[in-house]
Amino acid sequence: MTRQKRILSGITPSGNSLHIGNYFGAIKPQIELQNTDYETYYFIADLHALTTVKDSQTLRTNIMGIVLDYLALGLDPEKCVFFRQSEVMAHSQLAVVLGNYTSYGQMQRMHAFKDKLAKDASVESINMGLFNYPILMAADILLYKPYGVPVGEDQRQHIELTRDIAENFNKFYNQAIFPLPEPLISQKVGKIVGTDGQRKMSKSLGNTIGIFDDEAVIRKQIMSSYTDPNRLKATDPGKVEGNPVFMYHDLINDNPDEVTDLKLRYLGGRVGDVEVKEKLFQAHQRLFEPLRQRREILASDLGKVTEILTTGAAKASLMADKTVSEVYKIIGIA
Ligand code: TRP
Repeated sequence: MTRQKRILSGITPSGNSLHIGNYFGAIKPQIELQNTDYETYYFIADLHALTTVKDSQTLRTNIMGIVLDYLALGLDPEKCVFFRQSEVMAHSQLAVVLGNYTSYGQMQRMHAFKDKLAKDASVESINMGLFNYPILMAADILLYKPYGVPVGEDQRQHIELTRDIAENFNKFYNQAIFPLPEPLISQKVGKIVGTDGQRKMSKSLGNTIGIFDDEAVIRKQIMSSYTDPNRLKATDPGKVEGNPVFMYHDLINDNPDEVTDLKLRYLGGRVGDVEVKEKLFQAHQRLFEPLRQRREILASDLGKVTEILTTGAAKASLMADKTVSEVYKIIGIA
């Protein structure tokens, strides 16, 4: 098997506990790429988290939390290069260089910066880490010369900037050093509706179904999910299409016969919401309980987890350092 194309993505340890929208919309497709011909590089963007997390203990907890989540959900460090951004010095090194090929005007047009200004900051007080965030992200990407970067729609502009910076640099030195990375934005990402049946599932909207939360929390989230608002009694024929509880069944339930049976009975007014939700809860348990156990085992051996990250960082550094050397030569530093 020849592995030709490389895929890379970063995960910000912002501290939100994961929900099924994150999992089915982003994490699962990312993890599945490890079983393809693509070479996969995934890293925890811990330096990026500094824009929002300033408490050191919180940051430490968030980083380990997200690492455990990914490993428990199936990221296999034998198949992907999994590491922390801060452990590979080249990220910071390349970011410093790339700043010189990026204009203030380009940076001012970045949504994350503009949103922050619109919401709660003045130009005077804007944090330079936030302002420079897209340059560090461009460095994250270009170091590994990936073919594609799987991200959510909200990151599209950052990938476009990365392409612009790469193109600028290549043109300036008349060398094809940085291939332009493709944004790999799945149409499914972000389309998972929340338990309010209205908006995208999102932690800040309080319409999520968790993954590793306590059983009682998950049960409550499922039981309070919106279904078909026009159905008053279990004997009324219900709507399956667009009904969030059935969308979740389609994603989670490993027993398609049960799902078909529930749908038919729902359409015919022969099953109550409670039973549909109870079966969803059981399906959630079947899918995620073993992963929760795997997470607990990993959490009890953090030495091993740290070792995984150190090994990943060493592998990533091989490629990243090489790119920095090439760049240093091109610009006249080495
Ligand atoms: N900014 C990305 C996010 O918030 C995380 C990220 C940092 C990233 N560096 C990256 C994603 C490089 C892809 C490639 O989701």
